Amino acid sequence: TWTPGNVVADQVEAIREQVGDARVICGLSGGVDSAVAAALVQRAVGDQLTCVFVDHGLLRAGEVEQVERDFVASTGVRLVTVDARDRFLAALAGQTDPEDKRKTIGREFIRVFEQAARDVVAESGAHGEEVRFLVQGTLYPDVVESGGGEGAANIKSHHNVGGLPDDLQFELVEPLRRLFKDEVRAVGLELGLPEAIVWRQPFPGPGLGIRIIGEVTHERLEVLRAADAIARTELTAAGLDRDIWQCPVVLLADIRSVGVQGDGRTYGHPVVLRPVSSEDAMTADWTRVPYDVLARISTRITNEVPEVNRVVLDVTSKPPGTIEWE
Ligand code: XMP
Repeated sequence: TWTPGNVVADQVEAIREQVGDARVICGLSGGVDSAVAAALVQRAVGDQLTCVFVDHGLLRAGEVEQVERDFVASTGVRLVTVDARDRFLAALAGQTDPEDKRKTIGREFIRVFEQAARDVVAESGAHGEEVRFLVQGTLYPDVVESGGGEGAANIKSHHNVGGLPDDLQFELVEPLRRLFKDEVRAVGLELGLPEAIVWRQPFPGPGLGIRIIGEVTHERLEVLRAADAIARTELTAAGLDRDIWQCPVVLLADIRSVGVQGDGRTYGHPVVLRPVSSEDAMTADWTRVPYDVLARISTRITNEVPEVNRVVLDVTSKPPGTIEWE
């Protein structure tokens, strides 16, 4: 019978058999899949696993702490964080085209991850152990989509970029490749991961970088992070997390409108709320969030985030609108 406990037991055994004494590396994205995959491998082989977390500065409020503090506390994983925030901002300077931004973020991500992997390999080599395996949070639908039998899995970073260079060839460990998303969540809970990680809604790899319409800057990221945190807090408080697939908050950074805030006239930016309901993100409908919840979000954002003087609601289904604005 299928139980999360059985899956954990089976996978722990399978991972031990596959990995033996070798060392293993895993990239964490902040998302559910990589977290559960890493936690399973940690359960199986403990400190043979090193996790690498690239902080690209494009995550939402609290998400870095979720990985560095809560994930580590609940699993005991050995974690290397790379603070690459300045590097990503520098690479994104002047970029406004959505696909350019995605490419830049994907390229920088893979470069930073590769360097971190090399460092882990070098450090372990000094101790005479070999890093032979890379953990991937590939799920069953990914396997089916890539037409894959065993071994057919591609390197699927959360940016969907291509393979790793020759000097970083790893065998893949994919403990989730028979599981659907809801099963992955059940396994994550079984492993004692925090609910905030297990129930995290989908969030794009390029993160807030594609939710700032226009150039990404440090100041704009701070504004968007603050507005997004308020929206998420209020939606969660209203008990809507399970009704909403995800709710991008989008900063229209190059658009200004006139407002009155506090003592005077302001010329600030709008943010867009984009709550959607969906089964698989292929199609989506805009979620009918109760007006009083929308009102609270709007009031709080315009009170607490001085740069934002207008909150607007996106009432477009997908198609024709995509979920993200970029
Ligand atoms: P769209 O905007 O195409 O989004 O309706 C569908 C789903 O995919 C997510 N998304 C991305 N995820 N890298 C990702 O890892 C990306 O570049 C990307 N673009 C969109 C989006 O959040 C939604 O869940």
